[in-house]
Amino acid sequence: MTDTSFRQLAETVLAQAEHLAMLSESATELTRCYLTEQHQQAIQALHQWMQDAGMQTWTDAVGNAWGRLPASESQVRDTSLIPRVIIGSHIDTVRNAGKYDGMLGVLAGIAVAEKLNSRALPFHLDVVAFGDEEGTRFGQTLIGSSAVAGEWNPNWLELVDDNGVSLSEAMVEFGLAPREAAIASCAKEPVTAYLELHIEQGPVLEAEDLPVGAVTGIAGAKRYQFEVTGMAGHAGTVPMTKRQDALAGTAEMVLAIETVANNVKDVVATVGQVCAAPGAVNVIAGKAAFSLDIRSLDEAELAKAERAIFQQIDAIAARRGLVASYQEIHRAASVECAPELTGIIAAACEMVTRKSPLSLPSGAGHDAMAMARCCPVGMVFVRCDKGISHHPAEAVQLDDVAVGLEVLCESVLSLALDKESTQGGKE
Ligand code: HGY
Ligand code: MN
Ligand code: MN
Repeated sequence: MTDTSFRQLAETVLAQAEHLAMLSESATELTRCYLTEQHQQAIQALHQWMQDAGMQTWTDAVGNAWGRLPASESQVRDTSLIPRVIIGSHIDTVRNAGKYDGMLGVLAGIAVAEKLNSRALPFHLDVVAFGDEEGTRFGQTLIGSSAVAGEWNPNWLELVDDNGVSLSEAMVEFGLAPREAAIASCAKEPVTAYLELHIEQGPVLEAEDLPVGAVTGIAGAKRYQFEVTGMAGHAGTVPMTKRQDALAGTAEMVLAIETVANNVKDVVATVGQVCAAPGAVNVIAGKAAFSLDIRSLDEAELAKAERAIFQQIDAIAARRGLVASYQEIHRAASVECAPELTGIIAAACEMVTRKSPLSLPSGAGHDAMAMARCCPVGMVFVRCDKGISHHPAEAVQLDDVAVGLEVLCESVLSLALDKESTQGGKE
């Protein structure tokens, strides 16, 4: 192992995160979307850092950036079927994002590769920077990791962004061949494990005064787009009792959603987007639209909350003379992290922190949800300040990042020792 200390590696990681934070479509806030110029710039920077860490680099058929620390041939029995350990996360962001959601996990993988680049490993150590996890540009989340997990959906090629550019056109513009997207799949390859380090995006580690934790599972999530249709009218002449106000009805629906989520155990529901038309000060809104993001680790509770929400919305629409329709636009089933990987990560947390480890669920979605469809997944959480995320105030402490890197590195070494012991060490 190289003698660069984890603290030095953490300093490099934070400096690299600052550099990536400058690669934004906006001069005033961090927004980096899939298959954009900023995505291309981020890949160039990451490939350079990967090469500096001794890795081979490439970009796959859907625009994910890869680095590889090759397995040591002396450690591998059958060189035609070399196992892989993949460390990854995403480099796209939400709008007006923080610097660490996604990026920290990719940079941590590169730092671990640097740390291990003189250690003979019995597997390829791959690092992947997924191009789209948030769905910010095309509305579909987990595009990059779904493709790698063998779940590319060719219908996604027809998705369009706010400028009417289709995913297919954006891929061609980026230098990719849309019809070849499915070859990004690793589903038929011997992937031993997928590991992801990520900021917790919640308050638990801070409340427990712990720098890191092992993730037990990831909440399932569904997203819907609602359309509410009423009757536009003159703000001054239509009596209150004769209105079919789409925006007022939407407001009542949003509060009903909040009430349901407050009353159903372990469910969270969020309306993050609302718009109304015609959007004039002196016109009653004839149309409105809003999003719904609803999540739970418990699929039954999630379904129960959905039923209650749809019933409430239908009743409000009927009472107000509105028509409400909805379309599911995203679904990701809850995922359990592989217990053997959670155990390895928890043991590494305990070894590095000398405190009893905390294992906790993730309310946020991650690429590990997609990768779980092709291999065992494990996640390391790193404390973030006040649990703030999806916000420019997102922050991490240098010492916590150093601990996170060491935990990730120790977890990779545990996998290497397991592999070497099953293979009987060197040939
Ligand atoms: O929305 C999420 O949970 C993730 O940040 N994409
Ligand atoms: Mn996010
Ligand atoms: Mn994320």
